Amino acid sequence: MRHFISIADLTREEALSVLATAEHMAQTQSRALRKLPTLVGSTVVNLFFEDSTRTRISFEAAAKRLSADVINFSAKGSSLSKGESLKDTALTLQAMGADAVVVRSASSGAAHLLAHAGWIDQPIVNAGDGAHEHPTQAMLDAFTLRRHLRPGDPTAGLDGLHVVIVGDVLHSRVARSNVLLLTLLGARVTLVAPPALVPVGASAWPCTIRYDLDAALADSPDAVMMLRVQRERMVGGGFFPTEGEYSRRYGLTVARAAALPDHAIVLHPGPMNRGFEIAGAVADSPRSVIVEQVASGVFVRMAVLYHLLATDAREAPRDR
Ligand code: CP
Repeated sequence: MRHFISIADLTREEALSVLATAEHMAQTQSRALRKLPTLVGSTVVNLFFEDSTRTRISFEAAAKRLSADVINFSAKGSSLSKGESLKDTALTLQAMGADAVVVRSASSGAAHLLAHAGWIDQPIVNAGDGAHEHPTQAMLDAFTLRRHLRPGDPTAGLDGLHVVIVGDVLHSRVARSNVLLLTLLGARVTLVAPPALVPVGASAWPCTIRYDLDAALADSPDAVMMLRVQRERMVGGGFFPTEGEYSRRYGLTVARAAALPDHAIVLHPGPMNRGFEIAGAVADSPRSVIVEQVASGVFVRMAVLYHLLATDAREAPRDR
């Protein structure tokens, strides 16, 4: 792998290889000495134009546990607020000796532009670009699903599983990356959303789209992934459901969670709107793997950095 921009760039074998490395990283993290010397001398830059808690901190933790140096760069307080371009920012990072750049942006395609515009030679990792993709989130979700639903086989895909993804699909980069990755790994995916929160073009995605949550949950899913309602992206005439109406029709309430199959698990990428798309009691229930998803994120991001930067892991670079 040269960059990690989109799940659409991965083969099933590449996705399974990253998951296998993440499993190996998880084993190392349960030992007393958690810091590995793998990336000593490398510098990872976290370039975040949008707010983040989980992704930014877990990339930082992942890089540090592989002994890389980390530079955290946020738009606030930088020369970006004085109008500096993405190109000049990239040239500055290259001049400072970045070996990999992890980028989050509100603009779909920002990571792809950084990787392919010719401004910077280093591997680029997409930490979320607009409503397009969040590939490491999908990888950590697949990792968590596999640990619970295909335990004991760290080489397995997700063949035969049924995952229901619910909520604000329109603004969700998590939904698109998960549809691509979970189906690549053999799962069946159903998206459930109000009609106004389904993106144009989603009918071409490799999944089923439904508008009735109770009907979808009656189909005995193995996992339910709730999406955050991204009200901050609905400014200027979007979809403004009342919380009560949305929760009644699309929220994962205690009653809906209780009716799931015994083995079914509940995921949410965070941050959560408790009491809106998911009841607090469900988020805190034994079915919930939401906190575990955060821990999985460190292992998966260690694996991605390893595949991009460790000299023994790199294949011959190929442009994507
Ligand atoms: N899931 C996720 O991307 O969370 P953050 O926005 O906190 O990084």
